[in-house]
Amino acid sequence: MTTELSTTLESLKFPDLKLFAPGPHELSPAVREVLSKYRATFTHRATEFKTCYEETEHLLRETFHVPEKDRPLIFGHTGSYNWEMVVNNTPSSFRTLSLDIGSFSKRWGQVLADRGRHVEILSADWGDGITPDALQAELSKGYDLVLLIHNETSTGVALDIEALCDVVRHRSPDILIGIDAVSIAGAVDVRIDQLQPDYYLWSLQKDFSIPTIGSVMIVSDRAMRLAETVENRGYVLDMVEWVARAEKHQTPMTVPDLTLRCISARLREMQTEGDARFDRHRALTDAQHAWAEKHGLYLLSKPGFESPTLSTISVPDGLTGPGLTAAAKEHLNAQIAPGYGSTAEGYIRIAAMGMTSEEEMGQLLDGLTAIIENWDQLNGAS
Ligand SMILES: Cc1ncc(COP(=O)(O)O)c(C=O)c1O
Repeated sequence: MTTELSTTLESLKFPDLKLFAPGPHELSPAVREVLSKYRATFTHRATEFKTCYEETEHLLRETFHVPEKDRPLIFGHTGSYNWEMVVNNTPSSFRTLSLDIGSFSKRWGQVLADRGRHVEILSADWGDGITPDALQAELSKGYDLVLLIHNETSTGVALDIEALCDVVRHRSPDILIGIDAVSIAGAVDVRIDQLQPDYYLWSLQKDFSIPTIGSVMIVSDRAMRLAETVENRGYVLDMVEWVARAEKHQTPMTVPDLTLRCISARLREMQTEGDARFDRHRALTDAQHAWAEKHGLYLLSKPGFESPTLSTISVPDGLTGPGLTAAAKEHLNAQIAPGYGSTAEGYIRIAAMGMTSEEEMGQLLDGLTAIIENWDQLNGAS
C-alpha cells in the first residue's frame, strides 16, 4: 500500500470499532452512560422498579403520542416474540393478510402460517414496496387482521404506513392492524393517536441504540379486550397478564430494570434533540444516496420507498458485499453489513440509526470511497 493511501485510511479510521450495521447498532451516548453507571440495586417487585416502569411508560406515551386508552408494554424479550404475541392473543379463526417484501415481513406471515392460521400474502419484489392501491385491491378478499411492516430491514424499504392504515380503516374499521416497526421506531415522527394501530412493535437494538435487552409493543384498547376472549394464550406471551401487570407498573416475569433505564435515557435523549432527529436521519440517508450516485452505484429500494434508517447499495463490479464489509472493518474500523440473503453478494447495507452524526457518516463514506477506488492496491494487485 502506498504511504499516501495508508495515511488517508489512517485519517478516516474510527478509533474503536463503530457499528453502522442495521442492528444491533452503535449505543447512543445516553445509553452508554446508563450502562457505565449501572448497578443492581433493587428487585423487579420493589417500589423503585414500579417508579422506573412508570417513568418509562410516561416517556413512551409522550414521545409516541400514545392515547390514554392504549398501552405501551415493555418486555425483556426481542421484537420477534411480539410477532408471536399477536398470534397468541387473536382468535384462531382470524383471516390475516401479511406482506412479503423481504425476509422480515415474510417471516411474520410464516409465524402465523406455522401456527395453522389462515394467512394470505401480499408480496412485492425485493426493493419494491406496497402502495395503498395494491393494498386496497387485496382487502376486498375480507380480513380480520392486516400485518404491515414499517421498514423492511432486509431491503431498506420503508412503507407509507399512514396511507396504508387509512386504506385498511376505510375498507373496514373492524380490521385490526399490526405493524412491525423494529428498525424504524424512534427515527421518524409516529403519532399513535393518529395512526391508531392495534399492535405497534419494535426492538431496542436498532434506532433505540440499546443493547439487545428488550422490546416495546404499543397495544390498542380493543386489542386488549380481544385478547380476553381468546383461549389458551399461554403464559409468557399472554397479553392479558402483561396488561394487568402493566396497570400496576409491574411485569409478569422479570424485565431488567436496566432495560427500563436504557429506554428512559434514550427517550429523554430523543426528546432533547426533538424533531431535528427526523431531519438528521434523512440527511444521513441522503448522504448515502449521493455517495452511491457519485460512484455509479444504485439503491435496491425503488424511488419513493427509500428507508430513512438504512440504505442497501450495490457494490462496484468486481467487489462483493461481504468483501467490502470486511474491508471496511479492517481499514476503517467500521462495521457495515452485506446485503441480506440472496442480495448479500451484490450489495452492502449501511444504517442511519441512533445518534450517528452527519460528520461520522461523511467519514465512513469517504473511507468507503478510498477503499473502492484503491481496491486492487488494497488486495495485493500492485
Ligand atoms: C424488520 C424486523 N423485524 C423483526 C426483526 C426481528 O427482531 P429481533 O431480532 O429483535 O427479534 C428484525 C431484526 O432485524 C427486523 O429487522
